[in-house]
Amino acid sequence: MLGANSIGKEFVMTCFGESHGKCVGVIIDGCPPGLPLHEKDIQKELDRRIPPQPEIVSARREKDIVGILSGTFNGYTTGAPICVLVWNKDVIPDEYELAKDTPRPGHADYPARIKYGSFNDYRGGGRFSGRITAAFVMAGAIAKKLLGLFGIDVLAYAIEIGNVKIRKKPTLEEIRGNTYKTSVRCPDLESAREMEEAILRVKREGDSVGGVVECVASNVPVGVGEPLFDSLDADIAKVLFDVPAVKGVEFGAGFEAARLRGSKNNDPYVIRNGKVVALTNNAGGVLGGLSSGMPILVRAAIKPTPSISKGQRTVDLSKMKETLIKVMGRHDSCIVPKAVPVIESAVAIVLADHMLRSGIIPKVLRGQK
Ligand SMILES: Cc1cc2nc3c(=O)[nH]c(=O)nc-3n(C[C@H](O)[C@H](O)[C@H](O)COP(=O)(O)O)c2cc1C
Repeated sequence: MLGANSIGKEFVMTCFGESHGKCVGVIIDGCPPGLPLHEKDIQKELDRRIPPQPEIVSARREKDIVGILSGTFNGYTTGAPICVLVWNKDVIPDEYELAKDTPRPGHADYPARIKYGSFNDYRGGGRFSGRITAAFVMAGAIAKKLLGLFGIDVLAYAIEIGNVKIRKKPTLEEIRGNTYKTSVRCPDLESAREMEEAILRVKREGDSVGGVVECVASNVPVGVGEPLFDSLDADIAKVLFDVPAVKGVEFGAGFEAARLRGSKNNDPYVIRNGKVVALTNNAGGVLGGLSSGMPILVRAAIKPTPSISKGQRTVDLSKMKETLIKVMGRHDSCIVPKAVPVIESAVAIVLADHMLRSGIIPKVLRGQK
């Protein structure tokens, strides 16, 4: 069964569609009535998936036109399920016929073929394609509008690509102002240029690189999260691991915390302007599965694009023989730039769900209309 396509308890997102099927879309159930929502709100977010420089993120360039099929009336959500989709147009299914029996190393082809047999939609990776993440971005657009009512701001950006690390910690202003000025979605313009070069270098060799996306959510109130098993960090980590190609997730100091002493890792509290704040944020804004009031700071490690034109060993399953594969379809040499708005959306979806679970949002919306 290709089950488990929904996530969330109050803000419930169900994702549908395949890479080379008719459409990719999402149904949001549980969004409260009264949220202003237009197609252009979602379109704006979706457009951010395609960086302007085709040599950095070339490949498939869908002109995605968002359609809201249900759940809004007169420009506001009604409380009914919201169905949003984009139609797949830039599709060349024959491109993938050759690779049908030769699973791409690093992609989901082999386990999917074994699990679903001849029913597996292998075209372009089917349900396992990065294309599916358009649904995350559509849902994320709605989630971010909800979160905006509380002044909660979720921002993702690349901090590492092809072993080029961002040179300094970006300020919120730099993140807001610069991230989408660069094709690699890195707020430090000089680091961004080096990252672009790293991608172009590897692309010339028919290979690919990975990287790290950081996401910061500001103004999340203290106490959001439902321990034990719906802890805020656990739910964020889960949705991030649901994004294809994510191989690691860490909060705050992350794995580095394992190397620190308690005296260095603890975030000391002080009073500033009559409010309790922490001097550092090694916890990444989550303590005991609850938001701490500090920014939620999370990073996702993205692996290099599996489909590469460089020859690799694989097997021909129809003949049960070893062979070589060169993946010639339209693939990006680095997933990170496209993954940036996806990671941002994924975090926003979980935060919207938890804000609704905290019971605050409906009251705000009732007061609004
Ligand atoms: C935004 C995005 C775009 C992607 N584009 C590609 C691509 O062009 N080619 C490819 O082989 N994999 C691509 N992937 C990654 C695969 O979908 C993913 O590696 C595969 O489904 C296996 O899943 P796993 O890496 O999570 O194990 C993309 C992932 C994301 C998030």
